[in-house]
Amino acid sequence: MPSPHRTLRGPALSPGAAAPTPGAAALLRWDDALIEIDAQGAITAIGPAPADCPVPTTHPDCVLLPGLVDTHLHFPQTRVIGSASGPLLEWLERSVFPEEARFAEVAYAAEVAREFCDALIAQGTTCAAIYGSSHPVASAVLFAELERRGLRATLGPALMDRNAPNEVLLEASAALDACAALVERWHGCDRGRLRVSIVPRFALSCTTPLMRGAADLAAQHGLWIQTHIAENHGEIAATAAAFPDARDYLAVYEEHGLVGARTILAHCIWLSDSEWDRVASADATVAHCPDSNFFLGSGRMTLGRATTRGIRVGLGTDIGAGRSFSVRRIAASAYDNALVVGDPVDAERLLWLATTGGARALGLGDVVGRLAPGFDADIIAVPRPRVDDAGLVDALLFRHDAPPVAATYVRGTRLA
Ligand code: GUN
Ligand code: ZN
Repeated sequence: MPSPHRTLRGPALSPGAAAPTPGAAALLRWDDALIEIDAQGAITAIGPAPADCPVPTTHPDCVLLPGLVDTHLHFPQTRVIGSASGPLLEWLERSVFPEEARFAEVAYAAEVAREFCDALIAQGTTCAAIYGSSHPVASAVLFAELERRGLRATLGPALMDRNAPNEVLLEASAALDACAALVERWHGCDRGRLRVSIVPRFALSCTTPLMRGAADLAAQHGLWIQTHIAENHGEIAATAAAFPDARDYLAVYEEHGLVGARTILAHCIWLSDSEWDRVASADATVAHCPDSNFFLGSGRMTLGRATTRGIRVGLGTDIGAGRSFSVRRIAASAYDNALVVGDPVDAERLLWLATTGGARALGLGDVVGRLAPGFDADIIAVPRPRVDDAGLVDALLFRHDAPPVAATYVRGTRLA
């Protein structure tokens, strides 16, 4: 056997192979684990460290966890976090579009790209599904920063060709040509660490030719599609008025070829039973963004409506409607949300959603989200809260004043 390229040692927690069921522990725990990693950054072994193990504990007083997965956030909203100008459509007009317009300028995009990657790494997010601004150049700038910093990401410019100021619109053929150029340059970069996605922002900001072209481009290259749906009553009414022949919101996307097993639907608060059934049969996935939903007063998504149908769900910070880059903080918000809707969820399940669930929702369930042989060593070291073992997972997720993570690794390389 070749010797491992790197080892990490310390207490560890990880989802196992089985999905959690109510009452059944889904997490594996090691009091003192030794994790062996090969030169490509894959885990080759994980197990209890032997009594005579010469490797010192890598991060004293920390717990090793799989890296956190953020299934929905907006790069160009980094500097509007906390703008309480909602609800959704008013917030977009007042706070978001003026800020996103600044990303036409490369120097500005580059400065914010550094802040954005700093924030992901500080919070232990190793993998993210990201919306850019409508300016392809800003997504190119962020791709370059993500490549340099070692993060794993799925990213595309937000496609918008109507219903917003000119500064954030891009006409369909120019936008799609630019996406094709991004695919050429960035898709699959570094053995799939970076992926280009197709991001029709939402139906209200896209014409039919743009949505059709987006679906064709995604199909042609096997790209993931990211969009918003059923977030807010005003948005839903405006969408129904804009697409009077569609039977409901999901039908707008279905009729444009945008709903399939590589589609991530954000929010899903107000979907009907029929829409949920069709999301399930299409095997589309859901980004659950409870903090954003609280902050914009959008409403509550009931997690069980997705999970009982076997729909893949991950957590999304939804920066900048969400107020924190911390996926742990979003897990806490998902806990509150579940209490409010009367369908409680426990911390183990939330940690599962924040790691394996998110990875599955992004089509990376065989690659990241668990500490297990064959998985990439996307790992974080989180300061261990002072609590007994029985309360550890609750404390890891629900203590808002916890310090940020001590270290963030992607493929066994520590990010800075
Ligand atoms: N719907 C369309 N655009 C956006 C956005 O930027 N944030 C949220 N939360 N919803 C949207
Ligand atoms: Zn969003």
